[in-house]
Amino acid sequence: MSVSSTQSIPDATDTPRHVVIIMDGNGRWATQRFLPRTAGHVRGVQAVRRAIEGCGRAGVKYLTLFAFSSENWRRPQEEVSLLMRLFVQTLEKEVGKLAEQGVRLRVVGDLSAFEPRLQDLIKAAEARTAHNDVLHLTIAANYGGRWDILQATRQLLKDHPELAQTPDAITESMLAERLSMAWAPEPDLFIRTGGEQRVSNFLIWQLAYTEMYFTPTYWPDFDADALGLAFDWYRQRERRFGRTSEQLAKKSKY
Ligand code: FPP
Repeated sequence: MSVSSTQSIPDATDTPRHVVIIMDGNGRWATQRFLPRTAGHVRGVQAVRRAIEGCGRAGVKYLTLFAFSSENWRRPQEEVSLLMRLFVQTLEKEVGKLAEQGVRLRVVGDLSAFEPRLQDLIKAAEARTAHNDVLHLTIAANYGGRWDILQATRQLLKDHPELAQTPDAITESMLAERLSMAWAPEPDLFIRTGGEQRVSNFLIWQLAYTEMYFTPTYWPDFDADALGLAFDWYRQRERRFGRTSEQLAKKSKY
């Protein structure tokens, strides 16, 4: 189980251990070029590759990408189908390379809504990379933070029905260890491209003490330099986890 930022104080490192990204702006990138929105998603896949490489080079251990939210089903059907196809094609094409590079791939979210072929591909890709440990890449697909907290709560009560009679005995860690990314440390750096400044129901439990970085750059334009700027910004943050600056200064003297 990973360290909880509200139960104890995690070590702050210069390079974030866990980076999470909302890859926003694909549609606007395409519209600006008089292209269909879907062309932006196709270009977005290249930016996904760059982000994986850039994070690997920097020594990031966990990278989590928000590919499809539980609310994205509300988009036009044609766009949803394209996103699903892209997901399948990218998995088929890239899994070999990811396996060679030491990347462990996992997909989190309510996968029951996906067609069986996609579910099988996901399982196979996860199994093929399960022994890897260089970079833990997680794709959040049909994921929602509220769904995650709800499924953890349901699981807890299934595992321990007696807790319904003694709810005060429920601890933070009982829920945290049932979240879909319980194996990962809490995110250090959250990046959202595309100019919006919101969390959009991503990892809402785990973001409690995450540093939040927003950039107007559209996702298809997010390159190694843009990632470098986000890392530079992160390095300047004073991660207090509830303490004062004075306490931190005193601590660094000894
Ligand atoms: C948000 O841009 C992006 C998405 C909803 C999809 C992200 C998907 C990819 C980058 C490609 C597939 C990913 C993988 C992992 C294979 P938007 O459409 O909301 O852009 P807008 O805000 O400009 O409309």
